Amino acid sequence: MCGIVGYTGNHEAAPILLEGLKKLEYRGYDSAGIAVMNGNAISLNKVSGRISNLCEKTDDGKATPGHAGIGHTRWATHGAPTVVNAHPHMSNDGKFAIVHNGIIENYLLLRDELQQKGYHFNSQTDTEVVVHLIDMYYNGNLKDTVIKVASILQGSYALGVVCADDPETVVAAKKSSPLLIGVGNGENYFASDVTALVPYTRDIIYLDDGEFAEITREKVVVFDSTGKDISKEINHVNWDIQAAEKGGYEHFMLKEIMEQPNAVNATMTTRLKDGDIVWDDPGLDALDLSSFNKIVITACGSAYYAGCAGRYAFEQLCRIPVQVELASELRYNDPIIDEHTLLIVLSQSGETADTIAAMRECMSRGASALSIVNVVGSTIAKIADYTIYTWAGPEIAVATTKGYTTQLTVLYLLALWMGKKLGKLDDERFNLLLESLKTLPDSIQEALDMNPMIPELAKKYHQAKAVFFIGRNTDYAVALEGALKMKEISYIHAESYAAGELKHGTIALIDDHQPVVALCCNAGLQEKTISNIVEVKARGAEVLAVTCKGSEEIVSVADDIIYVPQTETVFSAAAEIIPLQLLAYYVAKENGCDIDKPKNLAKSVTVE
Ligand code: F6R
Repeated sequence: MCGIVGYTGNHEAAPILLEGLKKLEYRGYDSAGIAVMNGNAISLNKVSGRISNLCEKTDDGKATPGHAGIGHTRWATHGAPTVVNAHPHMSNDGKFAIVHNGIIENYLLLRDELQQKGYHFNSQTDTEVVVHLIDMYYNGNLKDTVIKVASILQGSYALGVVCADDPETVVAAKKSSPLLIGVGNGENYFASDVTALVPYTRDIIYLDDGEFAEITREKVVVFDSTGKDISKEINHVNWDIQAAEKGGYEHFMLKEIMEQPNAVNATMTTRLKDGDIVWDDPGLDALDLSSFNKIVITACGSAYYAGCAGRYAFEQLCRIPVQVELASELRYNDPIIDEHTLLIVLSQSGETADTIAAMRECMSRGASALSIVNVVGSTIAKIADYTIYTWAGPEIAVATTKGYTTQLTVLYLLALWMGKKLGKLDDERFNLLLESLKTLPDSIQEALDMNPMIPELAKKYHQAKAVFFIGRNTDYAVALEGALKMKEISYIHAESYAAGELKHGTIALIDDHQPVVALCCNAGLQEKTISNIVEVKARGAEVLAVTCKGSEEIVSVADDIIYVPQTETVFSAAAEIIPLQLLAYYVAKENGCDIDKPKNLAKSVTVE
């Protein structure tokens, strides 16, 4: 939700800020703005809509000279996505400008107080209080003033602040929203995400909550809320710049779909050694599994659906009860959780606000938290007792693909490892399953290769008013994610149902030509799902079945078939989701949708 950047150095700031914002646009894209220090004045440019509008307005930054500045791309929370509500926000006298990612929870109270003191508010945002507070408390020292103001704010923030008195300095502050500092040579940066920084520097300082930074072209000083300097490690990141570029693909989503065999392979191989699963992630090998009597998996959106699929692996391979909970619900459910609970937290971004809150709630009740996260150094990775990274590389498209399949990969590895450690799998079964798991990258590649007709199928289904996804057990878990992919990028209403539930209500919705995607890869339940296909066919549905080669009966009942390779049923979701990602992609493309940036969404949901 929102991306912020800052720069101070020898180069022109505006083009660097704009390039950074382009990289962060996936975080929010309804309005944008930059503030550039021009001598002792701040020049402000804001637009509604995309960064391209801002580039046009500023002639790609050429019309806004200056060597330091801040920028913002917004996902609206408080106030409509208009130019006035776009960041940066300025003080009434134009002396200060700020950008903010997060939510100021006590803004209404603060706004009342500031209005009584004569401050005039231009926007409906929560953020504007911050700039007026800075103005009110300014004592000639920006760093001290930001510390003072931060102590008044409740909520979450990554803040960037500039002051006309000091045109080469940018001050940043972090609490519960991501913020990284890029350390350069004669120039320094900050940003919400490393993708905005890697074109310029790979030396990164990860700020922790409650930390501040005073950034000038010569140095970066990190300090705490008492103003005391903190010594921070500079991390060298290896991310390939091209990983954050489209690399010849029309959309990031398609590129990321195609990257899945490599991403899954990278996630798996470092953890496979001498015919066993060996974690290179700190602390995990020492985890006392016998102390847990249940597993609770929590996450949001697709990560939650990965948890739904992973549940079957834990239950079958470890014989331990598993609850999968939506983080946005779990956080308020007064959950029955104690020190005997292993909490598994899934998050691509590592910054999802509901997931963080659910995690904190469960940890406060004694649960041990193991996070599965893609973004190194993110909040969830830092809070968790143990973290396993998915090595998917940067995921830019708002709809997750490789994030989801790499989460599944870690869940499968974990379930298999735990099953062995808990004595629920003998060596023979463990070895067999491990061999099968190792073929996952190849199976995903096969699933990508064996369906060249999906763009044609998309032409058949793209005008549907609604699409139903049905399946049982592991197939049902895939149906959940398949339906989400379809609705979020193509805007077609899509619903997933456990196939056995159809006759308890949903079948009333089936009539002539209603598309039904039937997931039918779970060998043990195939017969049952085929009866459900027959039932919807009898009511006029058009059935697109997803199945493995060799099931002749489906050929005779379905209208269209998509094949996926046969895999061990507990691991089947990873290959089975591939054609559904492609189907959603090509349907959205047929419908002319903005695939990488679907309307109303953002990549990183850092608000409740
Ligand atoms: C859907 C999608 C979202 C995310 C969800 C959680 O394609 O991407 O549903 O899965 O917002 O995000 P993370 O995994 O970053 O916590």
